[in-house]
Amino acid sequence: MDSALDFHALRALLQWQVELGVDEAIGDVPVDRYDVPAAPEAAAPSPASVSAAPVPGAAPARAVDQGADAVDAARRVAGAAQDLDALRAALAAYEHCDLKRGARNLVFADGVAGARVMIIGEAPGRDEDREGRPFVGRAGQMLDRMLGAIGLSRAESVYITNVLPWRPPQNADPKPDEIDMMRPFVQRHVELAGPEIVIVMGNISCQAVLGARGITKLRGAWHEAWGKPVLPMFHPAYLLRTSAAKRAAWADLLMVQARLRDGAE
Ligand code: URA
Repeated sequence: MDSALDFHALRALLQWQVELGVDEAIGDVPVDRYDVPAAPEAAAPSPASVSAAPVPGAAPARAVDQGADAVDAARRVAGAAQDLDALRAALAAYEHCDLKRGARNLVFADGVAGARVMIIGEAPGRDEDREGRPFVGRAGQMLDRMLGAIGLSRAESVYITNVLPWRPPQNADPKPDEIDMMRPFVQRHVELAGPEIVIVMGNISCQAVLGARGITKLRGAWHEAWGKPVLPMFHPAYLLRTSAAKRAAWADLLMVQARLRDGAE
């Protein structure tokens, strides 16, 4: 084989992937494509495998259901979990969400299980996917500063999770069907963690927990979900981009502090 031609073909393939948005290699070690051993002779296909073979040009078959059955399955396995470890195991075994296949790690939770405050973010980014913990990147550092301003911390007094436990490719917004299938897990997570109050950060979390978007209108007031008081807040990543929103975030933090001190008014 002409290795120069090979080089250009491989380079074009790589460029194509970059144009599609690939921005990092996910294997632990590089693969030398010049040194891949030849595939063994294929055995004659059985009639069953012939009929199951994909038709060229046809949409790839979904290995698992993504719709109503996926939500039913989520309700069943999440509802059966009797503690947080069981819920984590149920999520790890859940095969209906395609995002799982592109993620390095399941990002379940951080902080103190059973804390009075539970924070629900949106989805892991690159840093969270690498570490397997929510809010460890720049937005997480911002979140830690916000919590510190009212005397809270993930080391002592806050429990943190996300709507999605797997990183969406390109940090894209989760799709409605992905939110729908994760909602039963989020609900069970709140029930098992048992916080006094829940803070939902950003529109995706509002959608999953309150069934509504429009963070600018929703914030600044207590709502209710699953029998818990819920306060929507601007997402820390938004605050990093939009200094003007910090005043509102500070007002919301003071509402959290007052509720923890005085209870409901
Ligand atoms: N943004 C989120 O909503 N969650 C994370 O864990 C990180 C960034």
